[in-house]
Amino acid sequence: MSKAVWIIRDEHQRYGAVLNLVRNLITKADAGPATIDVDLLDLAFDYIVDFIDTYHHPKEDDYLFRLVRRRSPEADAIIAELEGEHGDGERKISALRLLLDRLRQDRTDEHFMAFKAAALDYIDFEAQHAMKENDRLLPIAERVLTAADWSEIEAAFADNDDPAFGDRPRAKFTAMMAQIVRRAPAPYGYRT
Ligand SMILES: [Fe+2]
Ligand SMILES: [Fe+2]
Repeated sequence: MSKAVWIIRDEHQRYGAVLNLVRNLITKADAGPATIDVDLLDLAFDYIVDFIDTYHHPKEDDYLFRLVRRRSPEADAIIAELEGEHGDGERKISALRLLLDRLRQDRTDEHFMAFKAAALDYIDFEAQHAMKENDRLLPIAERVLTAADWSEIEAAFADNDDPAFGDRPRAKFTAMMAQIVRRAPAPYGYRT
């Protein structure tokens, strides 16, 4: 497996873990408008938005999709679908954050249920999207991209001066994740 493919799959797992944390927080037995930790959900959404928009999607849109499209028309339809979903995901999480703000201001059952339904919809949507990339796009990329394409992609992903790639943004996300884990209840985090 190319290092770039490993990075994309690893990033899907990393933001998938935060989405799972959100799912667990809002579906556990005692979850409700009075008990829900809105600040923790806010931290989780900060991470997800930043990770997906500034760190993950540029790797796909600007490198992977562009080069696969150049090498073969085979993936044109799936790439168009995935690009559309990147925009849909941004719209969905913006709407979700407004529902979380409304819940923060007025903790009614109605606001909690509306937030929960939108959050579960968003989590399922992002999980399906990542699965589609893992199972349908990456195998085509591994087949059609040349050694020179992979070198270009891997050099870009290792560029520390780019805000989306390299060690500096990685360190930022590690710090954000540590904040989430400190605040999350056991067994997902350290709070008891
Ligand atoms: Fe994507
Ligand atoms: Fe992705």
